[in-house]
This record gives sequence, structure tokens and C-alpha cells, in this order.
Amino acid sequence: MKIALLGMGTVGSGVYEIINEEKGNYFAKAQEKITIKKVLVRDKGKKRNDFIDEEILTESFDEILNDEEINAVIFAMGGLEPEFTFMKRSMEKGKHVITANKAVVSEYFEELLNLAKKHNVMFLFEASVGGGIPIITSLKGTLQINQIDEIKGILNGTTNYILSKMSSEGKAFADVLQQAQEMGFAEADPSADVDGFDVSRKLAILSSIAFGSHIKDEDIYKRGIRDVGKEDMEMFSNLGYILKFLAHSKRMDGTYSASVEPVLLSNKDIMSNVNEEFNIVSIKGNIIGELQFYGKGAGKNPTANAVVGDLLYIMNNQNSRESIDLSQHLTNKGLGAFNGK
Ligand code: NAP
Ligand code: HSE
Repeated sequence: MKIALLGMGTVGSGVYEIINEEKGNYFAKAQEKITIKKVLVRDKGKKRNDFIDEEILTESFDEILNDEEINAVIFAMGGLEPEFTFMKRSMEKGKHVITANKAVVSEYFEELLNLAKKHNVMFLFEASVGGGIPIITSLKGTLQINQIDEIKGILNGTTNYILSKMSSEGKAFADVLQQAQEMGFAEADPSADVDGFDVSRKLAILSSIAFGSHIKDEDIYKRGIRDVGKEDMEMFSNLGYILKFLAHSKRMDGTYSASVEPVLLSNKDIMSNVNEEFNIVSIKGNIIGELQFYGKGAGKNPTANAVVGDLLYIMNNQNSRESIDLSQHLTNKGLGAFNGK
């Protein structure tokens, strides 16, 4: 299979390494080789890691689009545009699309699912929520039997890293934010992390799948963690509480509520013990009850693992069309309007 990779930053370089260095069980017994034929970057002249083959770098998306041999495109750039347009054009050309970009998925959720269906390609986005946690695959599996009534969790690695380091090491907000940026967890504009937009996009994606209705990021009540000081963290800790940045959505009598905000948890609560870049997601199904998923929610390897997992899914299931199932599920619009916080 020949693919293209858009972006060679934190996520793109992780994907490149797994595929080109043939890391993982798949490659030991692979029937079909995966070749990264082109990599789109903004600036070809930028200094990059030595392991990257500069010959395949390009600044032209059309070169990728018009290459008939490329049948899947991995998106690891960021922002709404040009990613959304490039996704549409890729699908129109019959290329499968995989993305880690929650901004695009949450904004154009329904449109992208419908486009994939129309052009008979797969559209997969496991890496867009929870980094390495296979939460979207698990949610789709749980939905086969259950009605999902509630989703709750810590869905942002950067802010969890900041809050846990402020709490455990008494560090200042700005210093730990810089560390999170250096470790590749933060968004290009970290205000998306600290003001709650990244979390509300992830919650919007999970809630749209769970509740079968396109829930938009702007429908979600959000309050960020920008104003939290290290003295606050110390006071909470002395009282037996830990501050966590929680995402929460709930089905209620034909409608739903959704919020993203800092919440004080007892230090005995499982979620209060989720630290650094780790995420946790709890979902409640009407038959199975509560399920919890835990793992690294940001960073190069966990995210690249999720992206490559989607690619292998496509290679192994070329005849099934996962996106079609989800878009059919979305035609259930029974939830009505957002009911406030
Ligand atoms: P990043 O380190 O900033 O890398 C972005 C890459 O995209 C760079 O290689 C850049 O090219 C390229 N790029 C950006 N805009 C472009 C354009 N208009 N045309 C061509 N190339 C362009 O970003 P990242 O952290 O890897 O994140 C990528 C995506 O994954 C984002 O949507 C992010 O939200 C998502 N994500 C990130 C993580 C994480 O832990 N970092 C986890 C899950 C999901 P140059 O190299 O030439 O600048
Ligand atoms: N900036 C995001 C985070 C990356 O910190 O969780 C993973 O989606």
C-alpha cells in the first residue's frame, strides 16, 4: 500500500518512524508492505531528523492528490484549513483518510462521514481523541449493544500535565506549560489546551458518536484553567482535594448536557490519580454499566500508534466501510437541542 503523510511534526514523525523502521508486530509477518511515497510539509528547507528521506518531502498537495498510486492519506498538520479542503479533495479522488486532527473532525463530523460514504472510502480518526487510548473503536463496539448515557473524563494531556505538576511539585503554571510544549503535547496555539477548546472538541466527537447527533464544540459549556495558581493547588491538597480538568456529557430525557471545566475531586477518586499526560475516559452503557479507559493521551508514540492502527484497519478491511456505519448511526437525530450545562 502506498500512502502520503501530511505533516512531519510530533505526530507525523512518530508515524514515519513506525512505518519506515517497521516497528511493531504487523511488520514481522506483513503480507503487504506500506510505503510512504510523499510527505507534505510547509517548509522543505527546515532542518529535520536525519532518518527522514528528504527526497519524498513536498510542499505541493496536488502532487499527492494526482498520484494515482497513493490510496490513503494521513493528516497530521493541524488547524481547520487547508486540512478540511485537502480531506475533501482526497476523498473525491477515492483516497482513504486518516486524521489526528480533532478540530476538523469535530467541526465537519457529519460532512466528512457523508463524503466518505459518497466516495466509498474510509475515514478514520482514532488519534483525534485520547492519544493512544483506543476510545473511538471501543465506543463504536459498545454502541453495538448499548445505549450510551454518559461520558466523563480527562481528555487533554497538556492541561493534565500542568495541573499534576503544579500539584505534586508546586511548579508555576507558565513553567509547566513550557515543559508540556517542549515534550510535544501542546497544540500549536496552546490556548486551545488551557482554555478548553481542545477538550471540548474531543468531547464533541465522543458525544456525537455516543448520542448519534452532531454535537458541536460551540454547544459545549467551557471554562479553562488559565487562572489556577500554585497556591490554589496547595490549598486544595491540604483539604484532601485535587483539581482536574474534566469533560462531561450526559443524555437526559431526549436532550443532552455537556461541559468542560476544572473540578475538585476527592483524592480517593480514581480520576484524581490520573497524572501527567495520561488521559482517562469513562463511558456508561445501559447494559454493560461503566467502562473506564486509561492511557497516554498525548505525545509522539501514543498518537502515532493510534494513527498507524487506523491504517492497518484500512489495509485489513478494504471491503468493509466503517464510516458508513457511523454516518447511518448519525441519522438518529432524536436528541434535539443542547439543554445548557
Ligand atoms: P506539529 O508538531 O506542529 O507539526 C505540524 C506539521 O504539519 C509540521 O511538519 C508542518 O510543516 C506541517 N504543516 C502545518 N501546516 C501545514 C500546511 N499548511 N501545509 C503543509 N504542511 C503543514 O503538530 P503535531 O503536534 O504533530 O500535531 C498535528 C496534528 O495532530 C494536529 O491536528 C494535532 O491537534 C493532532 N494531535 C497532536 C497530538 C500531540 O500529542 N502532539 C496528539 C493527538 C493529536 P513544517 O514541518 O514544515 O513546519
Ligand atoms: N494538545 C493535545 C493534548 C494533544 O495535550 O491532549 C493530544 O490530543
